[in-house]
Amino acid sequence: MNVSWFFSFTFLLLIHKVSAQSVPVEGIIGQTVILPCSLKQRPQTVFWRYRDDRTVCDFLRGKADFSDQDEAYKGRVEIFSSEIEKGNFSIMLSNVKKSDEGTYTCIATNLIPLTVELTVKEREEKQTTTEREAKRITPTSTAPPNGESTRRANGLLTFLLGCALLYSLAF
Ligand SMILES: *[C@@H]1O[C@H](CO)[C@@H](O)[C@H](O)[C@H]1NC(C)=O
Repeated sequence: MNVSWFFSFTFLLLIHKVSAQSVPVEGIIGQTVILPCSLKQRPQTVFWRYRDDRTVCDFLRGKADFSDQDEAYKGRVEIFSSEIEKGNFSIMLSNVKKSDEGTYTCIATNLIPLTVELTVKEREEKQTTTEREAKRITPTSTAPPNGESTRRANGLLTFLLGCALLYSLAF
């Protein structure tokens, strides 16, 4: 494999990771998955979007509204009405499909949008040892997005990013 191609790819991947700061969530085909969105405030209006434009679910005046919902999500999204008053606008997506993979954004006025990165796996897929190893040594995938650990992870990513950039320029 071409080395410079590999490093350019790594570079792009890192840029994506650093800018997104999203919560990784893993779903399994045919099952349900919770997309978390817990806010400090309790806004009345919250929008859930897929890849920034498709409507997954809206909360208007504190109630779920499915009138603008994208066809792909019809009948597959449930909300937790008793959680709303706590500022928890998490939703549950059922019958998860491979095509559901991607970035979901939970948007509330005057608040920084929260993003969830959904990956979808086959049912009963056996985890290889390397995958498990990779998980253990990747701090960003398990660490909660709190200030200190995020900052430290950012420092490391920025460093790796610099290395990748230098490397890809050198070839
Ligand atoms: C929000 O609600 C969901 C669904 O009940 C729950 O799984 C999740 O733990 C809640 N999050 C918080 C931060 O309470």
